[in-house]
Amino acid sequence: MTSHDHNAATPRRFGPTGPLTGRIRVPGDKSISHRALMFGALAVGETRVTGLLEGEDVMATAAALKAMGAQIERIPAASDVGGIERVAEGEWRIHGVGVGCLLQPQAPLDMGNSGTSTRLLMGLVASHPITAQFTGDASLSKRPMGRVTEPLSLMGAEFSGTTLPLTERGLCPAVPIAYRLPVASAQVKSAVLLAGLNTAGITSVIEPVPTRDHTERMLKGFGAELWVEQVDGERVIHLRGEADLRPQQIEVPGDPSSAAFFAVAALVVPGSELTIENVGLNPTRAGLFEVLRQMGGSIEELDRREVGGEPVADLRVRHSVLKGIEVDPALAPSMIDEFPVLFVAAALAEGTTVTSGLDELRVKESDRLATMAAALTGAGARVEEREDGLVIAGTGGEPLRGSANSRTKTRLDHRIAMSMAVAGLASRDGVEVDDTRPIATSFPAFEALLDGLAG
Ligand code: S3P
Repeated sequence: MTSHDHNAATPRRFGPTGPLTGRIRVPGDKSISHRALMFGALAVGETRVTGLLEGEDVMATAAALKAMGAQIERIPAASDVGGIERVAEGEWRIHGVGVGCLLQPQAPLDMGNSGTSTRLLMGLVASHPITAQFTGDASLSKRPMGRVTEPLSLMGAEFSGTTLPLTERGLCPAVPIAYRLPVASAQVKSAVLLAGLNTAGITSVIEPVPTRDHTERMLKGFGAELWVEQVDGERVIHLRGEADLRPQQIEVPGDPSSAAFFAVAALVVPGSELTIENVGLNPTRAGLFEVLRQMGGSIEELDRREVGGEPVADLRVRHSVLKGIEVDPALAPSMIDEFPVLFVAAALAEGTTVTSGLDELRVKESDRLATMAAALTGAGARVEEREDGLVIAGTGGEPLRGSANSRTKTRLDHRIAMSMAVAGLASRDGVEVDDTRPIATSFPAFEALLDGLAG
């Protein structure tokens, strides 16, 4: 589905634009969208979802769940059905099979570029009496799966290897475990909890460093018995297995990780004043906005409210003179996907920005420390790459030189492509990105939104 092989790459130059002004809305949260489909697929009855992110990663999850028996359909907007039925725009309806009733898929599950699909679905398969093969693109096939195969093996699942392609054989009944996360990873936490859904007894995850908590919030919303305690400063999550999930109506809030690109763009392009509507501000996700404010960025939260059980606000972002800072590594889990675009902000700030504690960035869709160091250096920024972070000496608000004559390597990583597009807006010569196709994994409308604002 998402092979994105080199031959058909779609390069593009992102050049300076005028100020970014007006209002935009970013697509639905990727993490919540994956989980809405998965939990809907396990609830007996009809779950309805609005605001679902219709990006390739989430569609890979939908296809895999269909291959395991769930019915998932997109209901067209009212205007498309001649007024016969009034439905919200782009509503998704899921008829689940029930916990324990996923079917044996008949073909390999193609996970495309999506680590979240892969790791969470491996959790689901682990406690079902089925065998599934997982395949993915070149980027995903390099990413470590041992972090999920290890705990899921303790529960009884069997794996043919620790990188894709691999085959997983689930075990039913599986064995409940209490697992302490060796890496701060919401995907690993979720894989174990999802395996626990169909496992008799109580499955527990001990989280020394808190990570995004959408799985916990949403499973409770779907009626699972899940509770969280603090023990010696660590977060401990317990789930009672053989859960009965009840279908839900879910409104997915806008993705803060997608809003991040436009927030930084508005901060660094002079004269900008942009309102980004409906941005999810779950505290386990909102670290970037805090760091940008520490750097002197003007980001106001308007109309704070709740959408789909998550805090949400409209963000009004104004061009600001940013100052380099030392970023607190404790904030890393709450902005783990936002470092590429933070590095762009740092490259345009006054003074030096120091980041550390970011080893996890080396195993994302690309090695984001190496990829961003090379990309920003190629665009004229002064960057020192360290083992666990980057040190960036900013221009003090002057545009970057840009990289008119060399293509920035994005290495099948959507967030590198979008970050360097933002760098291009604040450059003299523009930034040429080698391949924009991976952007569709998380934010298909990114270029159209940007072009609309620039126009
Ligand atoms: C995600 C968790 C994070 C994040 C990813 C989505 C999730 O990964 O980088 O984009 O939805 O649980 P890790 O758990 O590997 O940190």
